[in-house]
Amino acid sequence: MLLLAASVEAGRDGLESAGRRIYRNGVNGEGRAVTADLVMTGTRLSGVGVACRNCHGDGGEGSAESGLTAPALTWARLAQPRPAPIPARPAYGDAELRRALAEGKDPAGRLLHPAMPRYRLDRRDADGLLAYLRILGTERDTDPGVDPDVIRVGTALPLTGERAATGRLVQDTLPACVARVNGDGGVFGRRLELRVFDSASGRAGQVQPEVFAWLARFESDAAPAAIPEPEAGRIPSIGPLADMTMAPEQSGASTFALLPTLADQAAALVRFAAAENAARTGSLRLGLIRTPDRQGEVLAAAVLEQVRRLELPDPVVATAETALAPALSSPDFKAVNAMVVLGGAREWSAVSAAWPDSGPLLLGLLTTSGRAVLALPPPIAARVRLAVPFAVDDAAGIDALSAELRAEGMALSNPGLQAAACGAVQVFAEAARRSGRRLTRARLVDALESLQDFHSPLLPAIGFAKGGRNGSAGAYVVAVGQGGFQARSGWVESPR
Ligand code: HEC
Repeated sequence: MLLLAASVEAGRDGLESAGRRIYRNGVNGEGRAVTADLVMTGTRLSGVGVACRNCHGDGGEGSAESGLTAPALTWARLAQPRPAPIPARPAYGDAELRRALAEGKDPAGRLLHPAMPRYRLDRRDADGLLAYLRILGTERDTDPGVDPDVIRVGTALPLTGERAATGRLVQDTLPACVARVNGDGGVFGRRLELRVFDSASGRAGQVQPEVFAWLARFESDAAPAAIPEPEAGRIPSIGPLADMTMAPEQSGASTFALLPTLADQAAALVRFAAAENAARTGSLRLGLIRTPDRQGEVLAAAVLEQVRRLELPDPVVATAETALAPALSSPDFKAVNAMVVLGGAREWSAVSAAWPDSGPLLLGLLTTSGRAVLALPPPIAARVRLAVPFAVDDAAGIDALSAELRAEGMALSNPGLQAAACGAVQVFAEAARRSGRRLTRARLVDALESLQDFHSPLLPAIGFAKGGRNGSAGAYVVAVGQGGFQARSGWVESPR
């Protein structure tokens, strides 16, 4: 008996989700486009172009655009007789709905407005669509990965290979952040359930995860999504951990980054140098050294843009294509009072050789500089300032994060990374709560787009403007000392 109930349930779920695809995308359960006739022009169309949601709305709320009113389609409305003044009609049942879809007649026999297409659905597709119309816009009408009591979220991390240590740390950290959300009652009574995929293993390509959203996914610009799926681009990805040179607008419309891009961090260095210099007399003369690759080009462009905005003199630029030492010893470079170092070991060693004892302030990005910058001789190290994407002196944030992790037996060993991982979970939970009990990806994206000034330990305040995908733009600036980093600024915003 129980088994039978379960299979009836599964059958209904299957019908509803097939119907949902027709409603939203105009394709049926097998991925085939349905067809429709447009009476106004007498043409036959693919249902993809005339998906119901285009006119009747994502949740069946209806729409009124350019004088055309597509009525609300929720079952509560359809199953009720409609009084005048809009044309009165009796309630819809299954038979009446089939007729409305196929022949464009309402239960009173009135011809529907010619803008409403006539759909040519086979029995199965019509059954699916009817099943779905009964739940359209209700709490049951959610997206894959959302069940009555669970939201499945996924992460993809390098668990094997070169970056496995980083991947494992995030893998161990995320459950603690998730436990905190679940401990606070979850999201509208739903528990978060985390699925972890190995982004470094070839096998990851074979899993078809039914995850509602990706959190704290670790992939670099160079290694795109290891998990191909038909809907991949539509699954929101929040708080990717890989360092992004550019804004995620360019890397996927549904990616919401929490940390500033490297370009925005580089821009913040210029703001910082200008503020430091304001106390001194004389104008700020910037020098810039960069790698010859695409990243160097993008970062340098961000620096130059800030220079223009602040109306500073043009910087002296060296590109690390050829011998750097002769370039840096040119008289132009002797006059600079701050050097922006956009590169790694090679660029830092050239700069150290050019100014061994005294010289300009040396500004770089922690992310691209790597270990080289932590091993510089003291007279050089004293002049180094690095842009980092998280706060290093936020004692309250460190305490909050450590407590959260400790509660699940985890230690805080890499505050920046662990804060970013937990931040992704926090931002997701906040946006999901704002979406309400009827959780869909479209509603989640809307909620993310209206998020402003959201605080998570050690991270900058996060907010997405409508259509924006960068939660923050700027950097914190630190000095490199014996005991680690020392804050040299609060959050430095990079206006764009
Ligand atoms: C191009 C826009 C458009 C699309 C696409 C569209 N509709 Fe409509 N639909 C309308 C308009 C306009 C009306 C109002 C017609 C009237 O009242 O004369 C309507 C009316 C209806 C009605 C009658 C409602 C009532 O209260 O009498 C139903 C049911 C309906 N649509 C279902 C659907 C379904 C299901 C789909 C997708 C398979 C769909 N529509 C696609 C524009 C559209």
